[in-house]
Amino acid sequence: MIASFAIFLAMLLPASGSQEPDPHKESFGSTPDGKPVDVYTFTNAHRIEVRVINYGGIITALRVPDRNGKLDDIVLGFDNLAGYLNNKPYFGAIIGRYANRIANGKFSLDGRDYTLAKNNGPNSLHGGSRGFNNVLWRADPFRNRQGRGVILSYLSKDGEEGYPGNLDVKVTYTLSDANELLVDYLATADKATPINLTQHTYFNLGGEGNGDVLAEELRLNADRFTPIDKDLIPTGEIRLVKGTPLDFTQSTRIGARINDPYDQLLFAHGYDHNFVLKAAEGRLQLAARVHEPNRGRVLEVSTTQPGIQFYSANFLDGTLVGKHGHRYKQREAFCLETQHFPDSPNHANFPSTILRPGKTFHSRTVFKFSVQ
Ligand code: BGC
Repeated sequence: MIASFAIFLAMLLPASGSQEPDPHKESFGSTPDGKPVDVYTFTNAHRIEVRVINYGGIITALRVPDRNGKLDDIVLGFDNLAGYLNNKPYFGAIIGRYANRIANGKFSLDGRDYTLAKNNGPNSLHGGSRGFNNVLWRADPFRNRQGRGVILSYLSKDGEEGYPGNLDVKVTYTLSDANELLVDYLATADKATPINLTQHTYFNLGGEGNGDVLAEELRLNADRFTPIDKDLIPTGEIRLVKGTPLDFTQSTRIGARINDPYDQLLFAHGYDHNFVLKAAEGRLQLAARVHEPNRGRVLEVSTTQPGIQFYSANFLDGTLVGKHGHRYKQREAFCLETQHFPDSPNHANFPSTILRPGKTFHSRTVFKFSVQ
C-alpha cells in the first residue's frame, strides 16, 4: 500500500528540468475504428528520451546525445499514427507471435498441423497479416528504482493468425539512468504454441534521415549464422562466419563488404541474417556493438536470446515518407532484432520456440547508449 502510494507520488513528480510528469501521456490520435492511441514519453537523468505508443508497442522516437551533447532522434518512423497504421517496414514495433519467417506458413506441433496467414510471398512474416505490431496494447506507465517506462499488455486469442492457444504477453520498456533501455518480455499460454518476440527498431546512430549507415562499425558476438535460401528461409545449416562477409567478430564497417558477390548477400540484397550468439540461451550477453564515427554514438545490445537478426534495411526504397518528410532509402538504418532463429518450428536442430502451458517465457534485451 505504502509502496504503491510512493509509486503514485513519484509518477506525479516532474522530471528534472521539465514541467511534465515523467512518464507522461498525450493523445496520438485514434485508430480507424475510433480507439484512442496514446504516446508515452519518458526521459532519464542524461536527457535520453523515449517515446512509445500503445499501438504496436512502437518506439516512435529515441533521442540520444552525441559526443558533443547534441540530441538527435536515432530511430526511423513516422510523424503521426496514419504512418504507423500502414507501417510496412515494421518501424519500431514489437513483433509477435513469431518474429521473422515461418516457411509456407505451416508447422506441426504435437501431431497437429497448423496453417498461418501468409503475408510474405509463400511465407508468414512477423506474426502474419495482423501481428503484434498492428494491435492495441494496454499501457501502464511506471517509475521504479531501475528507471521509468511503460508496461504493455496484450492477449492474443486462441487461433489468432492461425496460432494455437490464448497467449498473454507483457512487454516492459524501462529507461534507466545508466543510459539503458531495457526490454523485458513475459508470456504464458494455455496451449502449446511457438513464440518468438522481438523489437523492430530501425537505428541510424547519425540521426534518422541523415543518410546511410554504411560507415557505422558493427561487432557481433557470433561466429556462426543460419544461411537462408532465395525466399529468406533458413536452410537448416549452421555455418561459420569465418572467411565470409558475415564475419563481424571484429568491428567492421557495415558497408565494407555489403556488395560482395556472396550468395547470402545476393539473396537478401544485403544483410538480413540470423546470427547464432556465443553464450548459452538465458544468460544476458553482449550480442552487438555499433559505433558511429562522426558523432561518436555507441549502441550496445545485450540479450538472453540465442540469436540476433542483423538487417541492413535492404527493402527501404525511398517511397515511404517518414518523420520530417524524410524519404528513407536502402541502408539508411539497421535493425538488431534479438530473437530465436527464424522458422524454428520447422527445424528440429534449432533451439525450441515452443511455450507450453504452465511455463513462463521470459527474455530480456538491453540497448545501452554511450559515446566514444
Ligand atoms: C526481416 C526482413 C524483413 C523486415 C521487414 C526483418 O526482420 O528479416 O527480411 O524485410 O524485417 O521490414
